[in-house]
Amino acid sequence: MIVVTGATGNVGRPLVRALAEAGERVTAVSRGRSPVDPPRGVGHVAADLTVPETLRPALAGAEALFLHDGGAGGQGLDPRALLEVVADAGVRRVVLLSSQGVVSRPESASHGVVGRAIQEAVRASGLAWTILRPGGFSSNALAWADSVRAERTVAAPFGDVGIPVIDPVDIAAVAAMALRKDEHAGRIYELNGPTAITPRQQAEAIGAALGVPVQFVELTRAEAHARMATFLPEPVVETTLTVLGEPNAIELRLSPDVERVLGRAPRSFADWARENVEAFR
Ligand SMILES: NC(=O)c1ccc[n+]([C@@H]2O[C@H](COP(=O)([O-])OP(=O)(O)OC[C@H]3O[C@@H](n4cnc5c(N)ncnc54)[C@H](OP(=O)(O)O)[C@@H]3O)[C@@H](O)[C@H]2O)c1
Repeated sequence: MIVVTGATGNVGRPLVRALAEAGERVTAVSRGRSPVDPPRGVGHVAADLTVPETLRPALAGAEALFLHDGGAGGQGLDPRALLEVVADAGVRRVVLLSSQGVVSRPESASHGVVGRAIQEAVRASGLAWTILRPGGFSSNALAWADSVRAERTVAAPFGDVGIPVIDPVDIAAVAAMALRKDEHAGRIYELNGPTAITPRQQAEAIGAALGVPVQFVELTRAEAHARMATFLPEPVVETTLTVLGEPNAIELRLSPDVERVLGRAPRSFADWARENVEAFR
């Protein structure tokens, strides 16, 4: 049996689906069930990763665990206590959803320091581990869904600075491989998209998927900061804006890892926009 934490999230949802379609027994874990119930035949267990003991009932009989960091870069987690519960339950294999920020922004309290602590706990757990380090997600564009629906407008900072965003479906596909096969043990996969894409080009791609033009409005860094601070903790906002405005060589590097693991190129932002067009209609 495979346990998927973060099961209602951008990565967890397609991961649960992929594993269930592959015939695996899956237990989906999150604190609530919203926004989407798991597919038929998949059990759901409520647990809070910041209270490790609450995960224990979900782990009974589990062979492998997909470990989400609980969001916001993993703040609030006690990684050692969490991994002790996981190892004690007899789980053999753990696949961690980490972040490229662990290496690209090691000095950042949110992306670097907390992320590194979780990663170290996973590596010290004695379990067979695989670490996934994605860059920015295509699904971050869902933050524009309301303004696209209401005014056909995307407002974002750094309109002409591109990064190679990754489709969460690709992260889920790599995770599914690593959860099912021993050959991925001890590997760290850097996951990003096929090419750098700017916010202005993302707005165009959403417009193309909708079949109507979408206008791009450039925000200043201060304006973007104020908007992001309504749903993200302060240190996460600061580092995220720096990544978006001044991506470094690690953040711009096109990693071969999606193609190596899946045997196909990573999906483009245009693919993601077409697949998720209903969110913008
Ligand atoms: N977005 C990016 O650009 C980016 C880039 C690199 C890495 N990442 C990493 O990817 C993660 C985000 O993945 P995602 O987009 O799939 O997440 P998401 O869509 O925000 O979903 C979060 C999932 O985790 C669950 N969750 C949150 N806090 C929890 C807790 N304390 N205990 C148990 N479950 C909890 C949520 O359900 P409940 O709320 O119901 O519990 C939900 O299922 C981030 O944390 C980050 O480290 C993101």
